[in-house]
Amino acid sequence: MADEVDQMFEFARDLARKCGEMVKTAFDLPKNIETKSSPSDFVTETDQNVEKTIIQAIQTRFPDHEIIGEETSAAGKEIILTDKPTWVIDPVDGTTNFVSGFPYVAVCIGVMIKKNPVVGVVYNPILDQMFTAVKGKGATMNGKEIKVNQCKDMKDALILTEFGSSRSKDRIKVVTDNMCDVVLTPVRGIRALGSAACNICAVASGFADLYYETGMHIWDICAAGLILREAGGFTCSTDGAELDYLHRKFIGGCSSELALQVAAKLKQIDLPPDGTTQ
Ligand code: IPD
Repeated sequence: MADEVDQMFEFARDLARKCGEMVKTAFDLPKNIETKSSPSDFVTETDQNVEKTIIQAIQTRFPDHEIIGEETSAAGKEIILTDKPTWVIDPVDGTTNFVSGFPYVAVCIGVMIKKNPVVGVVYNPILDQMFTAVKGKGATMNGKEIKVNQCKDMKDALILTEFGSSRSKDRIKVVTDNMCDVVLTPVRGIRALGSAACNICAVASGFADLYYETGMHIWDICAAGLILREAGGFTCSTDGAELDYLHRKFIGGCSSELALQVAAKLKQIDLPPDGTTQ
């Protein structure tokens, strides 16, 4: 199995680089933009073409494996997470950034076995940052080992979060109330960069101390979540409970102390999960 995981890793890394070239080429060109669940939830031809490219490549090389992808799920494919090797992909995490020309976008390819990530690749082709991890083997950025910061207290922390793509007034109110409570704790600062995966990789590489959000999806956090854990970070649900990748509630911190301190501040937002397990 270890050999097979290494093969999946090399395949995922090469595929993310190839698809990153597609994203980079399209980045400066005019785009056909459509909306999905809200006026701020976008999909472009690039999201769809990259997802098709990734799915075809996986099906050719690993025909027995399962695949969960952002755009195929948006098009109605039901998500059922099983114990089988499952590729979890986001062709462009940070689509709003992509359509606006803000350089935090990433191709995300993760593999789960028995519902736990074993391979994680997040590639930002605009900044040429390749983040990778294999379970038990550490995490890297552009081939160099990365480690999280040592921050254990909110007063010393730079926190990343997002408004998310919902434009429900009630939900945005809880999001902004939470931001208020966190910033007034106090913390050093709050930033929102527009890509869950880039945020998590920023924590993994020590550029920031913690990221939290409610509402992102399994494809935004699967690959990046493993990269963070392998860099020495801690992941949990927004209420501090054990992370469930389908439940759309995520805290990824450089330490458990910091993550649980932030969890204790957050009012919870309940959303339907991405899918079911079997
Ligand atoms: C979104 C981004 C964004 C986060 C949303 C995600 P997408 O992913 O990661 O930062 O706030 O919750 O859905 O749609 O750009 O792949």
